[in-house]
Amino acid sequence: MHGSFIVCLKEMMISKFDESFWLDTLELAGFDSSYRPVFNQELPDEKAIKLIKSTVKKLNMDDRRFGEMFGNYWIKSFARDKFFAFFDAYKTIKDFLNNLDLIHLKITANLKYPNPPRFEVNWENPSTAIIQYKSMRGFIHIAVGLLKAMADYYRQEISVYRVESDKIKIFIKN
Ligand code: HEM
Repeated sequence: MHGSFIVCLKEMMISKFDESFWLDTLELAGFDSSYRPVFNQELPDEKAIKLIKSTVKKLNMDDRRFGEMFGNYWIKSFARDKFFAFFDAYKTIKDFLNNLDLIHLKITANLKYPNPPRFEVNWENPSTAIIQYKSMRGFIHIAVGLLKAMADYYRQEISVYRVESDKIKIFIKN
């Protein structure tokens, strides 16, 4: 997984809680306390998944709440600065969604072993889409949280529902 995701996780844990939460999470996940995530360097999936799952455990949250907290932090505090070109390129959530798959392909293209989540977006009508999430990592709850935060960023009102284990329905209200 792209290092940025893990850098963001660390930053969120320290800024919303404190350094000890991050260190406890590292321990829970079996990492050395000296581990430092590197933005442009991937962390093998197995380790990244272990770290993310350990964060949820440490925070004593369910997956849905964690997805919303991480989604908010990623969109509004972290990625806005680091990947601003993607925010500036699209002006509405619909515009953004139509490029969701491409964005992930582009960002991970320089990794040694790119394995981005893939998204197939099908519009049922101008305001309703079904998003199919394709990733072996099983982070659809994070996708839901990211979508809610993205709509907030564009100041648009949406409803998001998980309709199947790998599908999300999004309804744009304005
Ligand atoms: C400009 C905004 C965004 C940027 C810059 C961005 C970038 C990234 C990056 C770099 C990763 C790590 C990918 C990898 O290592 O394979 C990632 C993962 C992910 N992104 Fe985004 N993302 C954005 C918005 C979104 C949105 C709106 C969604 C909602 C569907 C989303 C869903 C996910 C999910 C679920 C993952 C976890 C990886 C997985 O499940 O395989 N992202 N994103």
